[in-house]
Amino acid sequence: MTATFSHKRTDFPDGFLFGAATSATQIEGTAFGGAGASHWDTFALTPGNVVRAETAARACDHYHRWAEDLDLVAAAGFDAYRFSINWARLLPEGMGAPNPAAISFYDRLIDGMLERGMQPFITLYHWDLPSTLAHRGGWANRDITGWFTDYALTVQRRFGDRLASTATLNEPWCVAWLSHFLGLHAPGLRDISAAARAMHFTLTAHAEALAALRAEGAKSLGIVLNFEHIEPASPGDEGAAATEEALFNRWFAEALALGRYPAEALEGLERWLPARWQADLDTIRAPLDWLGVNYYRRALKATAPGSPWPASREVEGPLPKTTMGWEILPDGLADRLTKLAQLFPGLPLYVTENGMSANDHIHDGAVADPERIAYVDAHLAACRAAIAAGVPLKGYFYWSLMDNYEWALGYDKRFGLIHVDSESLKRTPKWSYQAFQHMLLPRTLPSR
Ligand code: FCB
Repeated sequence: MTATFSHKRTDFPDGFLFGAATSATQIEGTAFGGAGASHWDTFALTPGNVVRAETAARACDHYHRWAEDLDLVAAAGFDAYRFSINWARLLPEGMGAPNPAAISFYDRLIDGMLERGMQPFITLYHWDLPSTLAHRGGWANRDITGWFTDYALTVQRRFGDRLASTATLNEPWCVAWLSHFLGLHAPGLRDISAAARAMHFTLTAHAEALAALRAEGAKSLGIVLNFEHIEPASPGDEGAAATEEALFNRWFAEALALGRYPAEALEGLERWLPARWQADLDTIRAPLDWLGVNYYRRALKATAPGSPWPASREVEGPLPKTTMGWEILPDGLADRLTKLAQLFPGLPLYVTENGMSANDHIHDGAVADPERIAYVDAHLAACRAAIAAGVPLKGYFYWSLMDNYEWALGYDKRFGLIHVDSESLKRTPKWSYQAFQHMLLPRTLPSR
């Protein structure tokens, strides 16, 4: 294993963007600056939901250390930075008057990116639903479409003049299924009817916000979906794998591209979908300016006999794994990008997240993470293979800039290019960070 990547910037098309990604709740510190409570704050304070009951109250203290963090993004040679706004920080009541401290924080943050020559890629919703809206049913209530659109317009009117790109939602599968059916993320429901409604209302909220943003003059609008390379665990498990493929990889993408939901998913969800769902699909299909692809792993699915629909379970596979237990399969990324380029002909794609967690430790002031370098190297090779096959891939964002709050798994899972000490919060760039520097510097200003 080496400490550098086998790729050069010039191996990628002109204008290809390299970036790092984070999200608000995972790094900022929700206790600071008058942020309202989000459903993640309360989920974490409820016993049994998060490992060691860790919260995002302090997180990486990015709220106070943002300038140092942006310096690190720039010094790595990145062209772009993907970050999110904490909805509950900006609008503590979920709607109505913005929090002035939040406006000034995000103003400084966005200006700080521009001063450092980095393109701001904003995500409006990376999971911090204000508690006031959670109390009203959150993503299971059709009204979220309007709440989210109003919030999106507030962001656009305050910050839109300085954004390179806006994503409505991050990973609606996690917002809906992981959080309302599997119960593993806030609000921690295990309820198929709430899950079905959230599977639909994430898309209506996306679509209505997209239309409103466009009417307001916003440019470069997209959404970020997550994909896994799903395979049957054994012969006989094809049905379970097909159902999971429909729920995870096809539901959102096909609704956006084709205005329809896959039959294999409707089989279990149709009776729980909200009234008039078919009528919404035309709006949901409205054209995007780009699609974000989050990809980490392969997942093997098996039939779960005796269990109600979708009657599937995950099975541990034989491939090398990260500390998340996620199997590493870089070819799955090339395969997914190629499929998406067929589903969305001509649409610019970005890898908006890809990365690995590892057991990283500081020795003599350095963090050696050759496995992460190898992981990224192999996924960059997959990107190049997709580009060579004609996929309009425009950029790659590593998840994550720094070790952070990995949701229900707390602070143990280290995904960062930068090590963050759990106590002192000191930032230490890892070898993988230096590998990016080596590949990306000197940074030439984008030709667009
Ligand atoms: C994705 C999330 C991101 C992070 C990574 C590991 O599903 O978007 O916030 O948790 O996984």
